[in-house]
Amino acid sequence: MKILVTGAAGFIGFHLSERLLAEGHTVVGVDNINDYYDVNLKYARLKELGIGREDAEVFYKETISSINRNFKFVRLNLEDKEELFQLFATENFEVVCNLAAQAGVRYSIENPNVYIQSNIVGFLNILECCRHHEIKHLVYASSSSVYGMNKKVPFSEEDIVDNPVSLYAATKKSNELMAHTYSHLYKIPTTGLRFFTVYGPWGRPDMAPILFADAISNNRPIKVFNNGDMERDFTYIDDIVEGVKRVIEKSVEERGLYKIYNIGNNDSVKLLDFITQMETSLGKEATKEMLPMQMGDVKKTWANVDGLIKDYNYSPNTSLSTGIKEFINWFKDFYIES
Ligand SMILES: NC(=O)c1ccc[n+]([C@@H]2O[C@H](COP(=O)([O-])OP(=O)(O)OC[C@H]3O[C@@H](n4cnc5c(N)ncnc54)[C@H](O)[C@@H]3O)[C@@H](O)[C@H]2O)c1
Repeated sequence: MKILVTGAAGFIGFHLSERLLAEGHTVVGVDNINDYYDVNLKYARLKELGIGREDAEVFYKETISSINRNFKFVRLNLEDKEELFQLFATENFEVVCNLAAQAGVRYSIENPNVYIQSNIVGFLNILECCRHHEIKHLVYASSSSVYGMNKKVPFSEEDIVDNPVSLYAATKKSNELMAHTYSHLYKIPTTGLRFFTVYGPWGRPDMAPILFADAISNNRPIKVFNNGDMERDFTYIDDIVEGVKRVIEKSVEERGLYKIYNIGNNDSVKLLDFITQMETSLGKEATKEMLPMQMGDVKKTWANVDGLIKDYNYSPNTSLSTGIKEFINWFKDFYIES
């Protein structure tokens, strides 16, 4: 299959590209390489995919991977409609997987505009490109944050998600509504995947696992919000990538044009237990700075993944201890020993 992966220099997009290539697919990766977090990490991920920094830095330059001829990277902004249309016109993608977005709940409090540009305008451009080219399936990233302050657990796709508590969540819910419209009007098959706190090697430096690992390794206190009374459905990256791959590869015939699925680990882990596992893997105790709840944050997430199990035989099977060990091994290798 020929697949467009947007956000290919990002955490999930990088892993997904690597996995799709290993399965023999042809992948075109795009990313604007924004500096929301350290760009060196984004370039290092691209290097793993065989794309050198000096090539990746140049906007609109198409670079073929030095390690896999089936991978090509182009730096561009989703907001750049003309360039995006041009790419669709020349590449004839079968499937589009839109992972590019301005992520992060807390950042959206200070920087609302960038969320509207990347997540709304950018997503509209993706939809328009899919509409005007014969795309067999659009798979896109939504988020567990659409559940807002939902108290009923585990979170089900049937739950009402009309009460987002951050602009980030509002843009993700908007994406689901926009996709519905395009599926309905233009018969484009779409799948929204609500990711739940993904962690693992090459993870995001704005998320708790790296923030914690970095602070603990450098003898700094870790910030523990809501006095540690938080629970997350932490999902290991390989389980996520396996689930996304299954959705990309299977025809939508049996399940209908428009679908939304939770993609999590089907479990909720206490934040303090997560920290304990990290302490064990790092061989070091954390100093915890207990803080109140942050604006826009939610106390607990837990995914019901029955829909994905039924339609795609999804089975997340990485234990927390294995996942954290893998993550810490990478963290030490990338940040401490390199
Ligand atoms: N990681 C998680 O736990 C998690 C949870 C819920 C939802 N998600 C969603 O999954 C997707 C991937 O997340 P991630 O963790 O890999 O994030 P990430 O920030 O590592 O990757 C996103 C990539 O998109 C790129 N990008 C942002 N705006 C762009 C634009 N306008 N044009 C082109 N490229 C742009 C960024 O440079 C970045 O490399 C995002 O849509 C995110 O909202 C992630």
